[in-house]
Amino acid sequence: MADTPQPEADENWWRGAVIYQVYPRSFADSNGDGTGDLAGVRSRLPYLAELGVNALWFCPWYPSPMADGGYDVADYRDVEPVFGTLAEAEKLISEALALGIRTIIDIVPNHISAAHPWFREALAAGPGSPARERFWFRPGRGEHGELPPNNWPSQFGGPAWTRTTDPDGTPGDWFLNLFDSEQPDLNWNHPDVRAEHEDILRFWFDRGAGGVRIDSAAMVMKDPALPDLTDEPGVPHPYIDRDELHEVYRGWRAIADSYPGARILVGEVWLPDAERFARYLRPDEMHTAFNFDFLACPWEADRLRTSIDVTLAAHAPVSAPATWVLCNHDVTRTVTRYGRADTGFDFATKAFGIPTDLELGTRRARAAALLTLALPGSVYLYQGEELGLPEVEDIPLDKLQDPMYLRSGDTNPGRDGCRVPLPWSGEAPPFGFSPAGAAAEPWLPQPADWAARTAEAQAADPDSMLTLYRAALRLRRAEPGLGDGTFAWLESAPGVLTFRRSPDFVFTLNLAEEPAELPPHTQILLTSAPLTAGRLPADTAAWLRG
Ligand code: GLC
Repeated sequence: MADTPQPEADENWWRGAVIYQVYPRSFADSNGDGTGDLAGVRSRLPYLAELGVNALWFCPWYPSPMADGGYDVADYRDVEPVFGTLAEAEKLISEALALGIRTIIDIVPNHISAAHPWFREALAAGPGSPARERFWFRPGRGEHGELPPNNWPSQFGGPAWTRTTDPDGTPGDWFLNLFDSEQPDLNWNHPDVRAEHEDILRFWFDRGAGGVRIDSAAMVMKDPALPDLTDEPGVPHPYIDRDELHEVYRGWRAIADSYPGARILVGEVWLPDAERFARYLRPDEMHTAFNFDFLACPWEADRLRTSIDVTLAAHAPVSAPATWVLCNHDVTRTVTRYGRADTGFDFATKAFGIPTDLELGTRRARAAALLTLALPGSVYLYQGEELGLPEVEDIPLDKLQDPMYLRSGDTNPGRDGCRVPLPWSGEAPPFGFSPAGAAAEPWLPQPADWAARTAEAQAADPDSMLTLYRAALRLRRAEPGLGDGTFAWLESAPGVLTFRRSPDFVFTLNLAEEPAELPPHTQILLTSAPLTAGRLPADTAAWLRG
């Protein structure tokens, strides 16, 4: 599109970028319907520019029945009417660019919405039809096909198969859904599926998108024999990390590289094996991928140090920069997690009623913010993290919408607690999320006691999380040692992590109980909490010149 502003040619912008994740439903509601929208984001661009982020990653904004918060996409080339219009998205991309902020959109290749025309066509066309070959339809097992075709589980609980009903009303074939039954998996061996996604990439790059975040990137290819999952060693997994995936992403990279200004591919790749993970980051594949090992790491010096070492060692051979992530729209918010007895993250241990000490968690989250922003590579910041928002753990059950909760038989709280609409200003809900006098309440209720957590209140408070993030991001832009670059551990006392970023930046974090000496330095640039008698208290980080 000749008249669409395009990102400037800066081939390396992504290597050290700070990328802010927007969950559109919960960011800002411009029209008072209780749901965030793109006009709301446009009105808050000055806030994001002042925060100092380099790019925005938007969770899906496409037309969707919202069975999985928009990760059930009905049309990849348009915008959900509740969020706005395609023209509004184009305006948002160019207005952000004018402020120096790139836009990363979310591409969901593994599955589509059951409301997508392809799936409707497949259901109507019936068993054995070409339209069904774009998906994984199979007869069931058992005498009457009453059992799922194999033993694969849905990520949201229950079997990964849903049975269809034939036009005459009798039970028919099953289709594969690794997530919700409203999210049928696509068959990536089908040429239509590949061609369609390549065209979708071009559609958004033509509109100035600076990159794509690839949803569930390691689950997209399936073993076409659809064998049962087994524990047998040496058998390749039938749907995670299949070797054939790499060729798909090489094709995507070639498309991204055909555009000016380094359009990036960012993978959602959850893999325990760091070497397998790094294969996705070879020079002709994705640019970066989310570092879930670090995200899930407990708040312990040795574990953090190991996670950092493993990360850097895995990335070095492929020359890809690491990413540092503390939370996102799928996981428990940082200040809540770090205040618990178990400070790691694991979907399997999510439960209602886990106690937390928010004061402790906040203290640690402040130190963790300085840690991530000092490590080499790029940083992802999830909306509300800069406000130190806690997980909301008392949402009335009848308001919860996440399929992870809905499919769990009331045992798993799901992910709504980290998706509560942002508090912007004022003393009571909707805290400026919706305009004054809005007809509808926010789609998830906000805690009544969030007045001190609004962006407005925190902007005026020198000790707030927002003030810390603003100061850290300002310094990070100015410091030649920060962002992409070298990294070396310095000797430190047990429980203390200290490293140097050349030429003259030193980071230190005290995870021990007793205050620690600062390493040699010439200047203190920033600390996450006040020093005590010149020493670094527990759960405190410092940025130093040295
Ligand atoms: C990714 C998304 C998550 C979504 C799932 C299915 O993990 O981050 O929110 O539910 O994919 O699309």
